[in-house]
Amino acid sequence: MPSEPSSYVSDPTPGRGALRPARSWLHSDAPSLSLNGSWRFRLAPTASAPEDFTADAFDDGGWDSIPVPSHWVLQGDGEHGRPIYTNVQFPFPIDPPHVPDENPTGDYRRHFDLPAGWSEAERVVLRFDGVESLFKLWVNGDEIGSAAGSRLAHEFDVTSSVRPGDNVVAVRVHQWSAASYLEDQDQWWLPGIFRDVTLIARPAGGIEDVWVRAGFDDGRGRVEVEVTADATAFPVTLRLPELGVERVWSTAADVAAFDIDGVEPWSAEQPRLYDATVSSATETVSLRVGFRTVEIRGDRFLVNGRRVVFHGMNRHEAHPERGRVFDEEHARADLARMKRFNVNAIRTSHYPPHPRLLDLADELGFWVVLECDLETHGFDKLGWVGNPSDDPVWREAYLDRIRRTVERDKNHPSVVIWSLGNEAGTGSNLAAMSAWVHARDAERPVHYEGDHAGEYTDVYSRMYASVLETEQIGTDGSRAPLMNCTPAQGARQRTKPFLLCEYAHAMGNGPGALDRYEDLVHRYPRLHGGFVWEWRDHGILTTAPDGTPYYAYGGDFGEVVHDGNFVMDGLLLSNDVPTPGLHEYKAVVQPVRFAFDGDDVVVTNLRHSADTSDLRFRWRVEHDGTLVDSGDMKVSVVAAGDCERVPLPSVPVAPDAETWLTIDAVLAADTAWAGEGHVVATAQLDRSAPRAVPVARPVTDWTPSGGTLTLGVAEFVDGSLVRLAGRAVAGPRLELFRAPTDNDEGTSGEVEDSDASIAGVSNAELWRRDGLDRLTTRRLSVERAPDALRTVSKVSAAHSALSVTVETLWSLQDGELELRVEIQPSAGWRTVWPRIGIRFDLPDGAAPVDGAEWFGLGPHESYPDSLRAARTGRFSSTVRDLSVEYARPQETGHRSQVRELALTSAGSKVLRIVTLPDTRGRRPGFTLGRHTPQDIAQARHPFELPESTTSHLIVDAAQHGLGSRACGPDVWPEFALRPESRTIRLRITAG
Ligand code: GAL
Repeated sequence: MPSEPSSYVSDPTPGRGALRPARSWLHSDAPSLSLNGSWRFRLAPTASAPEDFTADAFDDGGWDSIPVPSHWVLQGDGEHGRPIYTNVQFPFPIDPPHVPDENPTGDYRRHFDLPAGWSEAERVVLRFDGVESLFKLWVNGDEIGSAAGSRLAHEFDVTSSVRPGDNVVAVRVHQWSAASYLEDQDQWWLPGIFRDVTLIARPAGGIEDVWVRAGFDDGRGRVEVEVTADATAFPVTLRLPELGVERVWSTAADVAAFDIDGVEPWSAEQPRLYDATVSSATETVSLRVGFRTVEIRGDRFLVNGRRVVFHGMNRHEAHPERGRVFDEEHARADLARMKRFNVNAIRTSHYPPHPRLLDLADELGFWVVLECDLETHGFDKLGWVGNPSDDPVWREAYLDRIRRTVERDKNHPSVVIWSLGNEAGTGSNLAAMSAWVHARDAERPVHYEGDHAGEYTDVYSRMYASVLETEQIGTDGSRAPLMNCTPAQGARQRTKPFLLCEYAHAMGNGPGALDRYEDLVHRYPRLHGGFVWEWRDHGILTTAPDGTPYYAYGGDFGEVVHDGNFVMDGLLLSNDVPTPGLHEYKAVVQPVRFAFDGDDVVVTNLRHSADTSDLRFRWRVEHDGTLVDSGDMKVSVVAAGDCERVPLPSVPVAPDAETWLTIDAVLAADTAWAGEGHVVATAQLDRSAPRAVPVARPVTDWTPSGGTLTLGVAEFVDGSLVRLAGRAVAGPRLELFRAPTDNDEGTSGEVEDSDASIAGVSNAELWRRDGLDRLTTRRLSVERAPDALRTVSKVSAAHSALSVTVETLWSLQDGELELRVEIQPSAGWRTVWPRIGIRFDLPDGAAPVDGAEWFGLGPHESYPDSLRAARTGRFSSTVRDLSVEYARPQETGHRSQVRELALTSAGSKVLRIVTLPDTRGRRPGFTLGRHTPQDIAQARHPFELPESTTSHLIVDAAQHGLGSRACGPDVWPEFALRPESRTIRLRITAG
């Protein structure tokens, strides 16, 4: 076959020569040979490099070697190009179906010995599980074919080209091709053979494909089997040994459905699998069957007759060193972690994962929305003109993708919904995909968020809908228009089950208000929950010029166009560390809920179908965070959907300390994903006796003052604090700034509490305009009285007439040093504030402050709209561990509602601060770190933060919420911090 490099690279059809129809990724006893391992490799800058290398006798001695599977841009230390990150943008001109001549092209070669005995095989098939983006294949110099569809499997019949003994396989991979227009997902562009390559012997009379559909209805299983095989394969036998089933079918026509009594259903909570085999005389295929029936009834999505609520994650295949190369151990650990954080569902955004991932999902238990490898988001820029989704030229490519998706993974009980892809506009090719799925798999519904009007999909799906909009979707009879829908289309959408395929954008510190979405799910049964965007950051491990390792994001590899750190938006950091946002998520979605009612607690089981027999319940009582009593709580088994009223244990109430009762639901035995004792759900009850807040003795007799002064542990010079308990301290100074979070920098459309003049401008930008990051101070007065010092200052920024008056009053009260700070904004402030705090700087000196112990909310950072994971208790941490290392440095570390805080140095307390509530009972929070908010705001990566010789303590009367405006709604009005007067009262003593 003559080669036509440029034309086949821009061919919108899906390649030539791959086997059709696609088939399941089966576990078979037919012989196979992995061709993973070291291949010879050469990279050319264009697609038209000579095809000399395909010849059998070609000398590849001068080539590099490369591991397969891998991405060449992650191999060879930059010698083979660099990764590119874009979200929506195409990193090449929008000129479909063409791509530039500058098209990195990787040539791969390797030898293999055809195993002895394979000559008996009827056919030899070569399977590629993933190659980005287009490849061409030769075996022993014969051109076999080409294929596109990066995250899809492609098989080729190479029978007539292989020979006994030594063989040579050559593969040419183009980074860019027509297919790249269909693979514009928000992720790194990572070319190469990145999944397995396998040579498979196909026996005569083998099982080509099998589909075991196992339904469940009221204790009965219904098995329907489809066998694809030659007539010579029959008789074919299905065995389900545990159920005593053995069915022998003499011909394809005999294969019939049958029922089995006494089966246990499969669910994400109780992933009951039965081993099964399907055999002919020459081949046995092994499967694990889960009995479950998926159905839509009215506006409900049901599995086994019960409504499903998705507590899901969007999961990309991302690894800091391997990229999208699958690592089973890492994937299993990742899925086990999801289970530990109460995640029950996965959307495989935005392509089929490695097939083994679905085996793990079947086994560990997840509801899976399996998404096709399709996204054409870059056409948005052109108003979707030229979008392949509505162009007949691309129809076959679309159909090929969905067929490969469904056929490969159809046997998995975990897969409950098929998704056509993501952000590909709309059009007839998507409708054709949906029609194909409906014809092939009548059971599972079809999802595609871009079908806004609901023309060809079965569930209504939105991304980043606000809480208000989500509520309107859930409400019957609401006339509120739905996004991108006419009233009639909106009415149609309201007849379907609704899910949020993406919500709660987890970029950086956040998201806030997760609990608001969760509340809706339990109020409106049409709402079936959703999938957080997204599970993990996609950082790529690399090193700064000085050798410091860090996780790279867009722009770090010198890309021409890129989308910065928008790829760092997971609940897990790149190094697998769960963010506080993930802890919050776990608490918000916990499947068991506790409602305290008088001397009882009502325990509700919100699971799909599992009862609580796998849990035990324990309680403990703490006085000011110190354990005083604990025990087990007797709760009888609660069925899914039921609740049980249980008397509370008797709680010893302390007269002079806070009394808290904590209840935990924990695993009663080890599971595949967590050990016995793992906490599934928690609740706390405040049983404290009321206590009076100490009233400060009023100070009079003020006289103007200067010079030095000592009050308790504080020393002052000219009205300024210089030392506390003998250590140098500067402050307190008003701090209104926080290093903007990604959400603070966000300009996402919907501002829940909008002021038209600032819509479309980020809060961070408004803070910079107002100069909150560069406040200056003018002292108005310093006065003293016996045992007291008072200063009044005006704080404002360059070229701004807005100001804040800060009155600082130091006094001795009950023999202790008390600091009272009154913070009063001038008229005219219009934006929200990030925080209202006072900052103390503590230079290192002989005993640097390197830790904290506190009684308040912990252990993780918390913010006003993210408090559900926080519990009241006594905690300690190093200064370092108080901060989260977000990929782009930003506000972190705030601990809310602190009652008592000790700053420590090498484990010893050096300063003790007790907070007093304000007149509305509010307590401040604190952050303690090695950098000021201003320092943090300057750094793009953690390694750019300068070495520090000072610890900074900020005591915050209030913080602004987090929201998820990086891509979604702003902070809910209730948690937005408006400029307001605040009082902070602290009692300070030596450690
Ligand atoms: C969505 C998209 C995701 C991701 C997210 C923002 O629009 O489907 O792939 O880009 O926005 O992080």
